[in-house]
Parts: sequence; structure tokens; C-alpha cells
Amino acid sequence: MTRRDVLRLGAIGTGIFAIGGLTRLGGRAVAQSPSVPTVDRLAMTNVVDNIYDVFAKGGKLDSIMVERTGLRIGADSLLAEHGLAYHLESVRGQERRQILLDFSLTERNLLNNYKVLKVDPAGADALVISHGHADHYGALPDYAQLVQGKTKPGLTLFAGGEDTFCHRVVVTPGGSIDQGQLDRAALESRGLAVVLAKQPTVVAGHAFTSGQIPRLTDFEKPPAAARLIAGPMDSACSVTHFGVTRVEGKPGELVSDNFQGEHATAFHVKGRGLVVITSCGHAGVINSVRQVQKATGIDKVHAVVGGFHLAPAPDEIVAKTVEAFKSIDPDYIIPMHCTGLNTIIALYGVMPKKLVMPSTGTRVIFGA
Ligand SMILES: [Fe+2]
Repeated sequence: MTRRDVLRLGAIGTGIFAIGGLTRLGGRAVAQSPSVPTVDRLAMTNVVDNIYDVFAKGGKLDSIMVERTGLRIGADSLLAEHGLAYHLESVRGQERRQILLDFSLTERNLLNNYKVLKVDPAGADALVISHGHADHYGALPDYAQLVQGKTKPGLTLFAGGEDTFCHRVVVTPGGSIDQGQLDRAALESRGLAVVLAKQPTVVAGHAFTSGQIPRLTDFEKPPAAARLIAGPMDSACSVTHFGVTRVEGKPGELVSDNFQGEHATAFHVKGRGLVVITSCGHAGVINSVRQVQKATGIDKVHAVVGGFHLAPAPDEIVAKTVEAFKSIDPDYIIPMHCTGLNTIIALYGVMPKKLVMPSTGTRVIFGA
């Protein structure tokens, strides 16, 4: 693929960024890659999260609008669970795009909340799965069944690597938790096109993925409890497929899970900067933000959103993460899902006005 092809593909919506096409001065980007899409407005809806806080306050902050879904009783009630799912609706001029990112744990909660929040499951322009843990892909097979034959033509699911579809296990002192395995062939048989976006990739012409995330910080490590079951040597889940974070193991063995294929999803909002959504952040929230900055050539971070997976982290790592956040200096931080109270309290201590607490059913409008 030539540079011209890369730029052309980027312009039509499914290409890879021209990362090398930036002018840099003193290590800082001075020009944005011409293929980075920019949107006027992004409405990010937290379709499912770990909590549903009916007392959470909404309203206009300096440069975002936070809308909450109040208490509903009966069939209109939202459901929370240990899982994450988003609806991302962006606008550029007259053009509107909808992306579904992650699919929570159970179809009961995901499909209920789509209905309550008036999200049309078949209306998506693209799908993104952040990584292969059940609290993110759990309801995806049910979703694919529900929308089979009803979606826009060629609906594509963007995954970050082969390992998204490998069998995962979490080993805890109380025993192992089988995370199961997302079946790629079954999704394709329902009509979804699956793309492995190992490099930064434009999604639906409006958003982009980070591509696989280099591990730059020395304090962000994958969770010690996470394991993969190594597949046969000639399969996509063979440990030889896991690139720079490769680990050794024989087929059938539990090997350390380095989340090689976990990727973040991001937008560039006109006049605001980057909105980076980490989902579960096993590659490190700071690594994820740095990768999106590098891929786009854009330094300004408007918001960092998602699970940062620091709930099990020791204080020292939380403190280093908070210091790195201070250096990135986003306008807003929205710590969801697996971030942990430890990190939320630490962030609140140093940047209380930047912190926006999430809740199932919360809609944050960027570029409002
Ligand atoms: Fe998660």
C-alpha cells in the first residue's frame, strides 16, 4: 500500500493513519495527520456500566454537557452489571454516525438498556470490541443474532488482534474464572465483517482505533491474574501470534495474558481535542492515551473515558498514574467500570473539577 493509498483510504473511512506523515519540532507534533477524522459533536452514552446512580447530577460543565437517566420503575428501568457498553453518536456537518463499542456481559442487561435508552441496535454504522473479556463481549453473540439481516450492509466489527478471539481465564485466590471465548466464525456467520485493526484505523469515517498499544510506561503492567489458554501452534491463538508481548507456552497451557490486541477507541472533536475511550485499559490508560496522541499527531486531550483497571493496583501505581494524568492534563476524566475507588479518590484529590462520575444511562456530549 502506498502513502497515497493510505491517505485515500483514511479519507473514505476505513483506512490506516499516515503516522509517519507528521512534521515534528522538538518532539512535538506541529501538524495533524490529514487522515485523522474530526467531528463537530460526540454524544457518548454509557449503555451499561457497573453502577446505576439515580442521584448523579447532570448539567452543563465548562465545555461538556452531562445528561443523566433518572430513576425508572418497572419495564423502563436501567440495569447495571459488571460490564461495559457504549453508544457513540457523532455528527460532522449533516453527517451522523453511530458506533457501538463493547457489549457488556449479559444480553438481558444490554438489550434492555438499548431499549430504555432508545438505541436502535440495527442502526449502527460500525462495531468495536475492545478486547476478549466476557464483561465486554458477553452479549455480542446475542446482539449479532438479534440484528442478523437487519443491519446496514457490510456492518464491520473492529477488533485489535487475533487474541480477542482466544480463550481467557482469570486466576484468583478463590479459584479460576472462565472468561470463555468469543467465536469469530459465529459472528461472521451472522453477517458481520470482522477486521483486525492492529494499526490505528478509521471507523465509520468519524472515529478511530488506537491500534495495538506500545507499552511505554514502566508502571503499567497487565493484570497478574489474567491468563490465556494457548491454542494449537497453527491456530490464531498460538502464543507465537502475540507479537512483541509474546509469551511462551504449549497448546492448552495457561499463559500470561498481555492483551496484545486490546485497543482504545477515540474521536477528535473540533475545537476540543481528543476523546480517548480505553474500555478496560489492560494495556495501561496512560499507554493508551500516548498511543492515540502519537497516532494522530494531536497532543490536546479533551477527555479520557473508560475503565482504567486500577482497582487492584497498589497505591504506588495509582500515584504514578495520577502524576501522568497531570502531565497529559485532559479537560475531563470519566473513570468507569474497573477503574477503582482508589484511583477515583486520588484523581479527585488533585483535579476535582476534571472528574465526571459515570453511571449507567449517562450521556456526555462533547462539542456541545
Ligand atoms: Fe472489563
